[in-house]
Amino acid sequence: MGEQLGTLSELPQDYRDQMTAAGVAPLWPMMRNVLPHDAPRPVTRAGHWSFAALRPLLLRAGELTPVEKAERRVLVLSDPGRGTGAMQATATIYLGLQLLLPGELAPAHRHTPSAVRIMVEGRGGYTVVDGERLPMEPGDLVLTPGGEWHDHGHDGDEPVIWLDALDLPLFVQLEGSYAIEGELQAQRNRPDASQVEYSAAGLAPSRRPGRGTRRYPMMRYPWAATEAALRQMAAFGEGIAELDYINPETGEDVLPALGFTAMMLTAGQVEAPPLRSCSSAFHVIAGSGRSEIDGQVIEWGPKDTFTAPVFARIRHEAESEAFLVRIHDRPLQEKLGYYEERAR
Ligand SMILES: [Fe+2]
Repeated sequence: MGEQLGTLSELPQDYRDQMTAAGVAPLWPMMRNVLPHDAPRPVTRAGHWSFAALRPLLLRAGELTPVEKAERRVLVLSDPGRGTGAMQATATIYLGLQLLLPGELAPAHRHTPSAVRIMVEGRGGYTVVDGERLPMEPGDLVLTPGGEWHDHGHDGDEPVIWLDALDLPLFVQLEGSYAIEGELQAQRNRPDASQVEYSAAGLAPSRRPGRGTRRYPMMRYPWAATEAALRQMAAFGEGIAELDYINPETGEDVLPALGFTAMMLTAGQVEAPPLRSCSSAFHVIAGSGRSEIDGQVIEWGPKDTFTAPVFARIRHEAESEAFLVRIHDRPLQEKLGYYEERAR
């Protein structure tokens, strides 16, 4: 163990040329790159995107590019480890800030990757998924799972901005990413499932023989309910209040690959989680504070977003009462059988 492996330059040139001509390469000079000892060596680096800096750029995109020319008017948050232009914030998480102006429509499509929208600013926006109209109020979390038709509209009178989180990098890696376009959906004339079938925790529509539940029964998680639940936990629980967004029928994570956890930190509270094998993105719903991620200090405020690579050493400290949503790929890693938490 720990033995230095042979290098390419130790091999005779004629042998290297013959290998190249035959379309093969020796594993041993490269093996530590793909199988490093003890822990992965992530390409991803911690990133921080201040909403105050991005907001004017996004509004300018609204002036420069009509939605018809963009389909989705989005500025992508590129992982600093991969460089600007990278269509990913971590190995598995894509993040983008999307702008919809009053009266605009983002046409219907469906695609293999799954998406979640976390509302950042503005009222009057909505998403239609599988015919269900989902209002988008600040802080709300709205699912558009892979394969489901979705379009976005805006009845309000101010710009609407939300954060998109997708498992897109995973699908690109799988060479499985594509979209199909369609007509705007007819909307069912009723409130969404969070208001009708799943308005109270612990209650679900009664089972009828032969009537299965939808795979994604609830697509909208209103922030008002999440915040109230966090406050109740913070008042009576130990440590920081954290709640996972789950499928109300199965108790499982809301999407196959990505998971979402809402956190509340009281003013001055510190959270130093174990080292997790999943990568994370943190979106600040409200409040301000500082986080140290692998030694890098990030001072965050409301509506900011920041990221942490796999096995990052993370320490959050809230300056004021703060609410964050953590986006992570634990569900995928659990399905693959390797999710892990290590003591600090
Ligand atoms: Fe989409």
